[in-house]
Amino acid sequence: MKTFFNLGGDLSVHRLGLGAMRLCGQPGNFGRYSDWEGGIKLLRHAVSLGVDLIDTAHAYGPGTNEELIAEALAPYGGTLVITTKGGVDKTAPDKVFPDGKPESLRRFCEASLRRLKLERIDLYQLHRPDPEVHFAESVGALAQLQREGKIRHVGLSNVTLEQIIQAELILPIASVQNRYNLMERQDDPVVDYCREQGIAYLPWGPLAAKPFEPGAPLTQAHEGLSTVAKRHGATPGQVALAWLLRRSPNILPIPGTTSIAHLEENMAAGKLELSTADLRELGAPIH
Ligand SMILES: NC(=O)c1ccc[n+]([C@@H]2O[C@H](COP(=O)([O-])OP(=O)(O)OC[C@H]3O[C@@H](n4cnc5c(N)ncnc54)[C@H](OP(=O)(O)O)[C@@H]3O)[C@@H](O)[C@H]2O)c1
Repeated sequence: MKTFFNLGGDLSVHRLGLGAMRLCGQPGNFGRYSDWEGGIKLLRHAVSLGVDLIDTAHAYGPGTNEELIAEALAPYGGTLVITTKGGVDKTAPDKVFPDGKPESLRRFCEASLRRLKLERIDLYQLHRPDPEVHFAESVGALAQLQREGKIRHVGLSNVTLEQIIQAELILPIASVQNRYNLMERQDDPVVDYCREQGIAYLPWGPLAAKPFEPGAPLTQAHEGLSTVAKRHGATPGQVALAWLLRRSPNILPIPGTTSIAHLEENMAAGKLELSTADLRELGAPIH
Protein backbone atom coordinates (compact mmCIF):
# COMPACT_ATOMS: atom_id res chain seq x y z
CA MET A 1 0.00 0.00 0.00
CA LYS A 2 1.28 3.47 -0.90
CA THR A 3 1.50 5.31 2.43
CA PHE A 4 2.00 8.88 1.22
CA PHE A 5 -0.01 11.22 -0.95
CA ASN A 6 1.31 14.32 -2.63
CA LEU A 7 -1.34 16.85 -1.64
CA GLY A 8 -1.67 19.64 -4.21
CA GLY A 9 1.39 18.20 -5.95
CA ASP A 10 3.90 19.51 -3.40
CA LEU A 11 2.89 18.43 0.11
CA SER A 12 3.78 14.85 0.95
CA VAL A 13 1.56 13.54 3.78
CA HIS A 14 0.75 10.15 5.26
CA ARG A 15 -2.53 8.81 3.97
CA LEU A 16 -4.00 8.36 7.47
CA GLY A 17 -4.71 11.67 9.20
CA LEU A 18 -6.73 12.80 12.20
CA GLY A 19 -10.05 14.62 12.31
CA ALA A 20 -10.07 16.97 15.30
CA MET A 21 -13.78 17.94 15.27
CA ARG A 22 -14.69 15.89 18.33
CA LEU A 23 -12.24 17.85 20.50
CA CYS A 24 -14.92 20.49 21.11
CA GLY A 25 -17.66 21.09 23.64
CA GLN A 26 -20.53 18.60 23.40
CA PRO A 27 -23.20 18.28 22.24
CA GLY A 28 -22.91 19.67 18.75
CA ASN A 29 -19.12 20.27 18.67
CA PHE A 30 -19.90 23.66 20.21
CA GLY A 31 -17.66 25.60 22.60
CA ARG A 32 -14.39 24.67 24.27
CA TYR A 33 -13.47 21.01 24.69
CA SER A 34 -14.10 20.13 28.34
CA ASP A 35 -10.85 18.13 28.71
CA TRP A 36 -8.54 20.80 27.24
CA GLU A 37 -5.34 19.27 28.63
CA GLY A 38 -6.42 15.82 27.46
CA GLY A 39 -7.01 17.28 23.98
CA ILE A 40 -3.51 18.73 23.92
CA LYS A 41 -2.09 15.36 24.97
CA LEU A 42 -4.05 13.53 22.28
CA LEU A 43 -2.96 15.89 19.50
CA ARG A 44 0.70 15.65 20.52
CA HIS A 45 0.43 11.89 20.77
CA ALA A 46 -1.02 11.76 17.26
CA VAL A 47 1.99 13.61 15.91
CA SER A 48 4.33 11.28 17.81
CA LEU A 49 2.62 8.36 16.04
CA GLY A 50 3.41 9.92 12.65
CA VAL A 51 0.18 11.81 11.96
CA ASP A 52 1.10 14.74 9.71
CA LEU A 53 -2.34 15.91 8.61
CA ILE A 54 -4.93 17.20 11.09
CA ASP A 55 -8.32 18.39 9.90
CA THR A 56 -10.29 21.16 11.60
CA ALA A 57 -12.69 23.99 10.67
CA HIS A 58 -13.77 27.46 11.73
CA ALA A 59 -17.16 25.94 12.65
CA TYR A 60 -15.70 23.50 15.21
CA GLY A 61 -16.28 25.45 18.38
CA PRO A 62 -16.45 27.81 16.42
CA GLY A 63 -12.78 28.62 16.63
CA THR A 64 -11.98 26.69 19.82
CA ASN A 65 -10.83 23.60 17.91
CA GLU A 66 -8.24 25.63 16.00
CA GLU A 67 -7.16 27.28 19.27
CA LEU A 68 -6.62 23.87 20.85
CA ILE A 69 -4.56 22.67 17.88
CA ALA A 70 -2.40 25.80 17.96
CA GLU A 71 -1.81 25.51 21.70
CA ALA A 72 -0.84 21.86 21.33
CA LEU A 73 1.24 22.01 18.17
CA ALA A 74 2.22 25.48 16.90
CA PRO A 75 4.65 26.23 15.30
CA TYR A 76 4.14 22.76 13.72
CA GLY A 77 7.75 21.95 12.87
CA GLY A 78 7.51 22.39 9.10
CA THR A 79 6.05 18.99 8.18
CA LEU A 80 2.68 19.03 9.91
CA VAL A 81 -0.22 20.04 7.67
CA ILE A 82 -3.24 21.59 9.38
CA THR A 83 -6.21 21.59 7.02
CA THR A 84 -9.05 23.87 7.94
CA LYS A 85 -12.34 25.01 6.42
CA GLY A 86 -14.47 28.10 6.18
CA GLY A 87 -17.97 28.73 4.92
CA VAL A 88 -20.06 27.38 7.79
CA ASP A 89 -20.88 29.23 10.98
CA LYS A 90 -22.40 28.04 14.21
CA THR A 91 -24.15 30.09 16.89
CA ALA A 92 -25.46 27.24 19.09
CA PRO A 93 -25.02 23.45 19.13
CA ASP A 94 -27.94 23.03 16.73
CA LYS A 95 -27.64 26.33 14.85
CA VAL A 96 -25.28 25.67 11.97
CA PHE A 97 -25.59 27.51 8.68
CA PRO A 98 -23.59 27.95 5.49
CA ASP A 99 -22.09 31.38 4.83
CA GLY A 100 -20.17 31.47 1.56
CA LYS A 101 -20.24 35.20 0.92
CA PRO A 102 -16.81 36.37 -0.27
CA GLU A 103 -16.47 38.83 2.64
CA SER A 104 -17.40 36.09 5.15
CA LEU A 105 -14.89 33.64 3.65
CA ARG A 106 -12.20 36.31 3.99
CA ARG A 107 -13.19 36.88 7.64
CA PHE A 108 -13.22 33.12 8.39
CA CYS A 109 -9.85 32.60 6.69
CA GLU A 110 -8.15 35.52 8.43
CA ALA A 111 -9.52 34.39 11.82
CA SER A 112 -8.20 30.85 11.17
CA LEU A 113 -4.78 32.23 10.29
CA ARG A 114 -4.70 34.15 13.59
CA ARG A 115 -5.97 31.28 15.71
CA LEU A 116 -3.70 28.69 14.10
CA LYS A 117 -0.74 31.11 14.33
CA LEU A 118 0.02 30.60 10.63
CA GLU A 119 1.02 32.98 7.88
CA ARG A 120 -0.39 30.67 5.24
CA ILE A 121 -2.85 27.78 5.48
CA ASP A 122 -1.58 24.73 3.58
CA LEU A 123 -5.04 23.48 2.64
CA TYR A 124 -8.14 25.66 3.02
CA GLN A 125 -11.45 24.02 2.18
CA LEU A 126 -14.82 25.52 1.36
CA HIS A 127 -16.83 23.79 4.10
CA ARG A 128 -20.11 23.65 2.20
CA PRO A 129 -21.62 25.49 -0.78
CA ASP A 130 -24.01 28.22 0.34
CA PRO A 131 -27.30 27.97 -1.58
CA GLU A 132 -27.74 31.76 -1.18
CA VAL A 133 -24.43 32.57 -2.90
CA HIS A 134 -23.30 31.69 -6.43
CA PHE A 135 -20.85 28.82 -6.04
CA ALA A 136 -18.39 30.49 -8.43
CA GLU A 137 -18.37 33.59 -6.19
CA SER A 138 -17.38 31.55 -3.11
CA VAL A 139 -14.70 29.68 -5.06
CA GLY A 140 -13.50 32.96 -6.57
CA ALA A 141 -13.08 34.39 -3.08
CA LEU A 142 -10.80 31.47 -2.17
CA ALA A 143 -8.83 32.00 -5.39
CA GLN A 144 -8.30 35.63 -4.35
CA LEU A 145 -7.09 34.58 -0.86
CA GLN A 146 -4.73 32.14 -2.56
CA ARG A 147 -3.36 34.91 -4.83
CA GLU A 148 -2.73 36.98 -1.69
CA GLY A 149 -0.64 34.14 -0.24
CA LYS A 150 -3.01 33.36 2.66
CA ILE A 151 -3.82 29.91 1.30
CA ARG A 152 -1.47 27.41 -0.32
CA HIS A 153 -4.00 24.94 -1.72
CA VAL A 154 -7.77 25.08 -2.02
CA GLY A 155 -10.11 22.18 -1.29
CA LEU A 156 -13.87 21.68 -1.38
CA SER A 157 -16.20 19.89 1.00
CA ASN A 158 -19.74 18.55 0.66
CA VAL A 159 -19.75 19.08 -3.08
CA THR A 160 -21.09 17.29 -6.13
CA LEU A 161 -19.05 16.16 -9.10
CA GLU A 162 -20.54 19.02 -11.14
CA GLN A 163 -19.42 21.56 -8.54
CA ILE A 164 -15.87 20.15 -8.53
CA ILE A 165 -15.72 20.49 -12.31
CA GLN A 166 -17.13 24.02 -12.10
CA ALA A 167 -14.55 25.01 -9.47
CA GLU A 168 -11.69 23.60 -11.56
CA LEU A 169 -12.51 26.19 -14.22
CA ILE A 170 -11.59 28.85 -11.65
CA LEU A 171 -8.53 27.36 -9.91
CA PRO A 172 -6.77 24.03 -9.27
CA ILE A 173 -8.57 21.95 -6.64
CA ALA A 174 -6.26 20.02 -4.32
CA SER A 175 -8.81 18.06 -2.28
CA VAL A 176 -12.41 17.05 -1.79
CA GLN A 177 -13.87 16.19 1.62
CA ASN A 178 -17.23 14.39 1.42
CA ARG A 179 -18.97 11.78 3.54
CA TYR A 180 -17.85 8.32 2.43
CA ASN A 181 -17.21 4.97 4.10
CA LEU A 182 -17.63 1.23 3.55
CA MET A 183 -21.38 1.46 4.19
CA GLU A 184 -22.04 4.77 2.41
CA ARG A 185 -20.62 4.68 -1.10
CA GLN A 186 -22.88 7.13 -2.90
CA ASP A 187 -19.77 9.21 -3.67
CA ASP A 188 -18.00 6.44 -5.64
CA PRO A 189 -18.02 8.48 -8.88
CA VAL A 190 -16.46 11.47 -7.08
CA VAL A 191 -13.72 9.28 -5.58
CA ASP A 192 -12.91 7.95 -9.06
CA TYR A 193 -12.99 11.39 -10.68
CA CYS A 194 -10.65 12.79 -8.00
CA ARG A 195 -8.26 9.89 -8.51
CA GLU A 196 -8.10 10.58 -12.25
CA GLN A 197 -7.42 14.26 -11.57
CA GLY A 198 -4.80 13.70 -8.82
CA ILE A 199 -7.14 15.31 -6.25
CA ALA A 200 -6.93 14.06 -2.65
CA TYR A 201 -10.19 12.66 -1.30
CA LEU A 202 -10.66 13.05 2.47
CA PRO A 203 -13.66 10.92 3.44
CA TRP A 204 -15.42 12.33 6.48
CA GLY A 205 -17.24 9.96 8.79
CA PRO A 206 -14.83 7.16 7.76
CA LEU A 207 -16.17 5.02 10.62
CA ALA A 208 -19.75 6.00 9.71
CA ALA A 209 -20.28 8.17 12.80
CA LYS A 210 -23.07 10.74 12.68
CA PRO A 211 -21.47 14.19 13.04
CA PHE A 212 -23.32 15.20 16.21
CA GLU A 213 -23.60 11.80 17.87
CA PRO A 214 -21.04 9.70 19.74
CA GLY A 215 -20.16 6.19 18.55
CA ALA A 216 -19.41 4.86 15.09
CA PRO A 217 -21.31 1.96 13.44
CA LEU A 218 -18.22 0.64 11.65
CA THR A 219 -16.42 0.05 14.92
CA GLN A 220 -19.11 -2.56 15.74
CA ALA A 221 -18.81 -6.00 14.22
CA HIS A 222 -21.27 -6.84 11.46
CA GLU A 223 -21.33 -9.74 9.04
CA GLY A 224 -18.33 -9.76 6.74
CA LEU A 225 -16.54 -7.07 8.70
CA SER A 226 -16.27 -9.24 11.80
CA THR A 227 -15.08 -12.27 9.78
CA VAL A 228 -12.35 -10.23 8.06
CA ALA A 229 -11.41 -8.52 11.33
CA LYS A 230 -11.01 -11.89 13.07
CA ARG A 231 -8.89 -13.23 10.21
CA HIS A 232 -6.43 -10.34 10.64
CA GLY A 233 -6.59 -10.18 14.45
CA ALA A 234 -7.90 -6.64 13.95
CA THR A 235 -10.99 -4.68 14.97
CA PRO A 236 -13.92 -3.94 12.61
CA GLY A 237 -13.00 -0.23 12.65
CA GLN A 238 -9.47 -1.03 11.53
CA VAL A 239 -10.80 -3.11 8.65
CA ALA A 240 -13.13 -0.23 7.65
CA LEU A 241 -10.16 2.17 7.56
CA ALA A 242 -7.95 -0.35 5.74
CA TRP A 243 -10.72 -0.74 3.15
CA LEU A 244 -10.71 3.02 2.51
CA LEU A 245 -6.93 2.98 2.09
CA ARG A 246 -7.26 0.07 -0.33
CA ARG A 247 -10.21 1.59 -2.20
CA SER A 248 -8.16 4.24 -3.97
CA PRO A 249 -4.63 5.69 -3.64
CA ASN A 250 -5.99 9.25 -3.40
CA ILE A 251 -8.06 8.51 -0.27
CA LEU A 252 -6.79 10.06 2.98
CA PRO A 253 -9.14 9.04 5.82
CA ILE A 254 -9.36 11.42 8.80
CA PRO A 255 -10.93 9.34 11.60
CA GLY A 256 -11.93 11.40 14.61
CA THR A 257 -11.46 10.44 18.23
CA THR A 258 -11.15 11.79 21.75
CA SER A 259 -9.43 8.63 23.00
CA ILE A 260 -5.72 7.83 22.87
CA ALA A 261 -6.47 4.10 22.76
CA HIS A 262 -8.78 4.60 19.76
CA LEU A 263 -6.23 6.88 18.11
CA GLU A 264 -3.55 4.18 18.38
CA GLU A 265 -5.96 1.54 17.10
CA ASN A 266 -6.99 3.70 14.14
CA MET A 267 -3.41 4.53 13.15
CA ALA A 268 -2.44 0.85 13.29
CA ALA A 269 -5.03 0.24 10.54
CA GLY A 270 -2.48 1.73 8.13
CA LYS A 271 -0.49 -1.51 8.41
CA LEU A 272 -3.42 -3.77 7.55
CA GLU A 273 -3.37 -5.18 4.00
CA LEU A 274 -6.68 -6.56 2.74
CA SER A 275 -6.72 -9.38 0.21
CA THR A 276 -9.10 -9.85 -2.72
CA ALA A 277 -10.85 -12.53 -0.65
CA ASP A 278 -11.30 -10.00 2.18
CA LEU A 279 -12.84 -7.50 -0.22
CA ARG A 280 -15.26 -10.17 -1.48
CA GLU A 281 -16.19 -11.02 2.10
CA LEU A 282 -16.86 -7.36 2.84
CA GLY A 283 -19.21 -7.22 -0.15
CA ALA A 284 -17.19 -4.24 -1.29
CA PRO A 285 -15.31 -5.16 -4.43
CA ILE A 286 -12.98 -2.52 -5.79
CA HIS A 287 -13.19 -1.97 -9.53
N1 LIG B 1 -16.63 18.37 6.02
C1 LIG B 1 -17.62 18.07 6.82
O1 LIG B 1 -18.77 18.52 6.65
C2 LIG B 1 -17.36 17.17 7.99
C3 LIG B 1 -18.42 16.66 8.78
C4 LIG B 1 -18.09 15.82 9.84
C5 LIG B 1 -16.76 15.50 10.10
N2 LIG B 1 -15.77 16.03 9.33
C6 LIG B 1 -14.35 15.71 9.56
O2 LIG B 1 -14.19 14.30 9.57
C7 LIG B 1 -13.57 13.89 10.78
C8 LIG B 1 -14.05 12.50 11.17
O3 LIG B 1 -15.47 12.48 11.25
P1 LIG B 1 -16.26 12.01 12.54
O4 LIG B 1 -15.47 12.24 13.78
O5 LIG B 1 -17.61 12.62 12.48
O6 LIG B 1 -16.54 10.48 12.28
P2 LIG B 1 -15.71 9.11 12.39
O7 LIG B 1 -14.27 9.36 12.24
O8 LIG B 1 -16.40 8.17 11.46
O9 LIG B 1 -16.01 8.59 13.86
C9 LIG B 1 -15.70 9.25 15.05
C10 LIG B 1 -16.47 8.57 16.18
O10 LIG B 1 -16.07 7.23 16.27
C11 LIG B 1 -15.54 6.93 17.55
N3 LIG B 1 -14.31 6.16 17.35
C12 LIG B 1 -13.19 6.57 16.70
N4 LIG B 1 -12.27 5.60 16.69
C13 LIG B 1 -12.81 4.55 17.36
C14 LIG B 1 -12.35 3.25 17.69
N5 LIG B 1 -11.15 2.83 17.31
N6 LIG B 1 -13.19 2.44 18.41
C15 LIG B 1 -14.42 2.85 18.78
N7 LIG B 1 -14.93 4.07 18.50
C16 LIG B 1 -14.12 4.92 17.79
C17 LIG B 1 -15.25 8.27 18.20
O11 LIG B 1 -15.46 8.18 19.59
P3 LIG B 1 -14.21 8.30 20.62
O12 LIG B 1 -13.98 9.76 20.79
O13 LIG B 1 -14.74 7.63 21.85
O14 LIG B 1 -13.06 7.58 20.00
C18 LIG B 1 -16.26 9.19 17.54
O15 LIG B 1 -17.50 9.18 18.23
C19 LIG B 1 -13.92 15.01 11.78
O16 LIG B 1 -13.02 15.08 12.85
C20 LIG B 1 -13.83 16.23 10.89
O17 LIG B 1 -12.47 16.63 10.76
C21 LIG B 1 -16.05 16.84 8.28
